Amino acid sequence: MKITGGIPLKGTVKTQGAKNAALPVMAVALLLRGQKLTLDNVPDLYDINTMIELLETLGVNVKRENSQVVFDVPGELRWEAPESLVRKMRASSLVLGPLLANMGKVSLPLPGGCSIGSRPIDLHLKGLKQMGAEIDIQNGVVHAHVNGKLRGRRLYLDFPSVGATENLMMAASLAEGETIIENIAREPEIDNLAATLRCVGVPVELEGTGGVRIQGIDRAKSGRERVIPDRIEACTYILAAVMTNGHVRVEDLVPTHIDAMLAKLEESGAKFTVRKSAVEIFPSKRRLHPVTVKTMPYPGFPTDSQPQMAATLSLARGVSTIEESVFQARFLYAQELNRMGADITISRDVAIIRGVEKLQGAGVRATDLRAGAALIIAGLAAEGETRVDDMIHVWRGYEAIDQKLRALGANVELIKQ
Ligand code: UD1
Repeated sequence: MKITGGIPLKGTVKTQGAKNAALPVMAVALLLRGQKLTLDNVPDLYDINTMIELLETLGVNVKRENSQVVFDVPGELRWEAPESLVRKMRASSLVLGPLLANMGKVSLPLPGGCSIGSRPIDLHLKGLKQMGAEIDIQNGVVHAHVNGKLRGRRLYLDFPSVGATENLMMAASLAEGETIIENIAREPEIDNLAATLRCVGVPVELEGTGGVRIQGIDRAKSGRERVIPDRIEACTYILAAVMTNGHVRVEDLVPTHIDAMLAKLEESGAKFTVRKSAVEIFPSKRRLHPVTVKTMPYPGFPTDSQPQMAATLSLARGVSTIEESVFQARFLYAQELNRMGADITISRDVAIIRGVEKLQGAGVRATDLRAGAALIIAGLAAEGETRVDDMIHVWRGYEAIDQKLRALGANVELIKQ
């Protein structure tokens, strides 16, 4: 993407359906047999297409019409996830719980590491074992099976992992009896999954204290649910507006989902108003105040907004710090931002960001999805031309980002390689 920066963004942008909510709720289809799951507000993204391809490989019939996707599930499913798809997207591991619960077996190549740090699935496997699965890992492939049904029981997650919570909730849906999982992730995407499980007939109760209670059922029925708005995409456009000193209304979002981000923006002196399902950002004559940020599981500051926040704070007046407590090594974007004139040093899990007055356009590389987003918003604010390479990462999570930015007045262009 070629960006000629320095233009304050202006106008209205609508939030897409959430990638991280759509992926697990699509996997709910694997709990069905001879039934249909209909999902609305599904974004058009590379990762969503990878999940569709994976579900098709497993035997599900998928029909997409604009943002509605219908999953028509046959009486029997295949249980082997192909390595080529699992390697493309770590969230492929979300098929583990539902397939095992529905078909009694599953094989899944281990997803391996990625550029934001090591991402094991030990918590997913531990929970499934506790529910009665036998698990064997051979030549990098997880083979799991269960004699009869998985058994509902009380589980405790050592860390509130989003993926492990989702996999175990889906596994518990067809288990014998009741499952209670403690210390679960409480991201809004978990509520969306709970609603989708309920719509296919599974009694799910989320408890305020970080637990969930699920009554296993014999057979899931057809259902329809809507994917929630993408809070990370919404925050990216909010920060793009702040960074370019623009006047932008970001619509179709749930403001309470982005409270942590809005609290930091308020602290930094950014000017904005919050409405029922929109946030409006206003230009300001003053540079941002520096702030201290620490990423944490929801409702803490989201790790997925960390790189974009770092880009924004690189223009603050003074020294900000961002501590990353969810993933290690999620700072690869810092050296790219520094090529644009930012002053960021990394000390273990902390990024120390010394605010500079201006960024300059440069050739940079998107090392992962959110790093790519950070570089794009930095490019929008920088003087001169920025070229972001490896846009493939960005298409995993941002629908039509070039068109949305152009509609806000940005000068961006896609270059075919
Ligand atoms: C999901 C999101 C991702 C987001 C992350 C944290 C999707 C598709 N992806 O990823 O965008 O950045 O939540 O909000 O929803 N861990 C273990 N063992 C496990 C599982 C996780 O040690 O079995 C560790 C991970 O290495 C990581 C931390 O727990 O350090 C958080 O991971 P997790 O919450 O599981 O993230 P994902 O579900 O992979």
